Amino acid sequence: MKHYKIALIKGDGIGPEIIDEAVKVLDAVSAKEDFEIAYNEYLMGGIAIDVKGEPLPDDTIKGSLGSDAVLFGAIGGEKWDTLPREKRPESGLLKLRKSLGVFANLRPTTVYDELINASTLKPDVIKGVDLLVVRELIGGIYFGQPRANEGNRAYNTMVYEKDEIVRIAHIAFLAARKRSKKVCSVDKSNVLEVSQLWRDTVQEVAKEYKDIELSHMYIDNAAMQLIRNPKQFDVILTSNLFGDILSDEASMIGGSIGLLPSASVGGKVGVYEPIHGSAPDIARQGIANPIATILSAAMMLRFSLNEVRAAERIEAAVKDVLKDGYRTKDLSQFGAKEVCSTSEMGSIIADRVSKI
Ligand code: IPM
Ligand code: MG
Repeated sequence: MKHYKIALIKGDGIGPEIIDEAVKVLDAVSAKEDFEIAYNEYLMGGIAIDVKGEPLPDDTIKGSLGSDAVLFGAIGGEKWDTLPREKRPESGLLKLRKSLGVFANLRPTTVYDELINASTLKPDVIKGVDLLVVRELIGGIYFGQPRANEGNRAYNTMVYEKDEIVRIAHIAFLAARKRSKKVCSVDKSNVLEVSQLWRDTVQEVAKEYKDIELSHMYIDNAAMQLIRNPKQFDVILTSNLFGDILSDEASMIGGSIGLLPSASVGGKVGVYEPIHGSAPDIARQGIANPIATILSAAMMLRFSLNEVRAAERIEAAVKDVLKDGYRTKDLSQFGAKEVCSTSEMGSIIADRVSKI
């Protein structure tokens, strides 16, 4: 029997509740598919600040590096918002990504037919949308030097080395090869030098992928096109900041940010997390939607553990359960036959996983 070691980072707000449900589902699927998962919990974010005085303690990095994958909930909350930037919960997450070297962030958007009315966009605009944002995650303006706030003047630097662009471009082209064979690279090369290098480099890498159709779009236009006609996109390849923005925008196509998973890969150990935040306003009420985290666990099985069948089981179970009308509160107005709590939703999906 195969054994895996997973680092669990529950974090703040709804983080602990949604991770618990993902673990429930992972336990159900591992029993079915005959592998075993051992979990170790580590602190990051606000809770780590409270307990250990820093947002990313060393043993969290060490524990993550010693695991097969990291499953992460969410971090942050008002309580820590006034701390200096490098002491904030978000800095912990950024440092974790950097320490593990996960340069490729994959954020899929799927529209479930059962939830077609949950989006603020018209059903005929979004029906059948299936796109993947490939976001560069450990470079660009998030990490560029110099950076400073000098009181009357503040600056950040958007910088990319050519090889950072090359490696993320390969990820996008390879992903497109398994999908609809289209990559749209998003930049601002009409204004920014760094974007010109981005565009030229992506074009160069594209020569190795003659079977993939490459297009380029400026970020402002892409933000507009994503709402106007999201079906035109297959893989969107973009930099750290633009990808942060576009992936939040893309999440609304599916109606709820509570449904969308993500994978951060390409480094020593993959990190899997829902794309939503810690939602402190609804924490500990049992109403958070655990599906994004459960689907992140499926991505973990697929990409880090190579347990593809187990991943497919989870994805099929989620689809089934939504089809049957089970909804958490966020989606209760959209075709709900039964409104369930966070933990009921986890149990229903776990149960379904064994039956598929
Ligand atoms: C995300 C988040 C993070 C980011 C924050 C919490 C640092 O918005 O994962 O998209 O900006 O990358
Ligand atoms: Mg974001």
